[in-house]
Amino acid sequence: MNTGLPAALLKDFASVVGDGHVLTGDAAAGYAVDWTGGFRGHTAAVVRPKDTAQVAAVLALCHQAGTPVVPQGGNTGLVGGGIPRHGEVVLSLTRLGRLDQVDESAGQVTAGAGVTLQQVATAHPGFDLGILIASRDSATVGGAVATNAGGLRVLRYGPMRAQLRGIEAVLSDGTVVSHLAGLVKDNTGYDYPSLLAGSEGTLAVITSARLQLVPRLPGPVTAIIGLEGLDGVHAMATRAVRQVRGLMSAEFLTRAGLVLLAEHAGLPLPLRAEVPAYLLLEAAGDGAGDDLAELVGDHPAAVGTTPADRARLWASRERHPEAAGFLGTPLKLDVSVPAGQWVRLASEVTAVVQAVDPAARVIVYGHVADGNLHVNVVPASPPDGRHEQAVFEFVASLGGSISAEHGIGALKARWLPLARSDAERALFARIRAAFDPAGILNPQVLPS
Ligand code: MLT
Ligand code: ZN
Repeated sequence: MNTGLPAALLKDFASVVGDGHVLTGDAAAGYAVDWTGGFRGHTAAVVRPKDTAQVAAVLALCHQAGTPVVPQGGNTGLVGGGIPRHGEVVLSLTRLGRLDQVDESAGQVTAGAGVTLQQVATAHPGFDLGILIASRDSATVGGAVATNAGGLRVLRYGPMRAQLRGIEAVLSDGTVVSHLAGLVKDNTGYDYPSLLAGSEGTLAVITSARLQLVPRLPGPVTAIIGLEGLDGVHAMATRAVRQVRGLMSAEFLTRAGLVLLAEHAGLPLPLRAEVPAYLLLEAAGDGAGDDLAELVGDHPAAVGTTPADRARLWASRERHPEAAGFLGTPLKLDVSVPAGQWVRLASEVTAVVQAVDPAARVIVYGHVADGNLHVNVVPASPPDGRHEQAVFEFVASLGGSISAEHGIGALKARWLPLARSDAERALFARIRAAFDPAGILNPQVLPS
């Protein structure tokens, strides 16, 4: 079989990771497409190392051969950053599954890149991971750090970067750098763990992370509230941040998305009332239920306190990303704006899309309290960049960001100049060259 790679290199990979962990042909195909089907690539080989030493040896081989590499975790990314769109070798990190015991005195844990977020979250009954995303059963620590994953609790705990207390990574020439002591105070030079968070596999391959955990709060309460409009959603979320003790999530969903989920996935609507917009709030700890009840007042609402009821309510939000998929392959645009512009963004973005493609369908949802909106567009006319252009220009005009939490990847590379100045992108290029002078790590992603 002609893999497009020298046979000697494939043999060298196999001598490092074992024959069974160098995948080619059909066995490699699943690693070359993302779950939405929106990003498809091809790869000569998927290499699956089991530990840091093997990652270092594989990278040293690629470096020597000048072979481009795409690091990949659980393949749950949304911007094509882990897909070998140009025939790169895929370095799959899912076998790096070592999870140390939770350090109870520090409330921290060291986890291999391939450990799933759910494994970290359930590693100790007294602790939780601050990051909660719907893909937690597949998404891995390495990928979540590399993309600085956000999700459903950023308003309280911040994104993945905020959980990071240390990192171990391999540079493109195979050099291992490690700083995993987890010290809270540690001013000994450049904070490269923080720089690797959100670097999308372009600077180094993350092999392990030291993560700060959060106390698992008792008595979580979840509520879905029906509201008449988007200004009502935003106003109530803002009040919740100020007034609800133990608030962890403030999520926005629409009737349009829920109706699609009801029709195609049989998911029941959370409320009987026919309202256009919904706010999901979750809080935990002392006084959370009372504070939520006071805030909700006499708006239509469903409240859950048992695990089963809460899961049922959360399904309406966590399955929202699937809704647009029932209409076609969606463009998943993840944007954020300053708090004062969120209502304008959420209420006008559909018209902005339809100005360039009148029959396009748009489903919006997202994280209200941090200004993040997910705009899922199912184009009716060819997806030639016009939809992204329209949305990103609109967002930029509101002072926002073209990527709130999903990253730049391949999807948004073209539009990076809308978000970052020439001087900033020149600095990006210098940082990148310092980490990876040969330019073999995810070369098509996050270009400057
Ligand atoms: C979400 O908030 O549901 C995620 O960012 C995933 C998505 O938008 O598809
Ligand atoms: Zn999100």
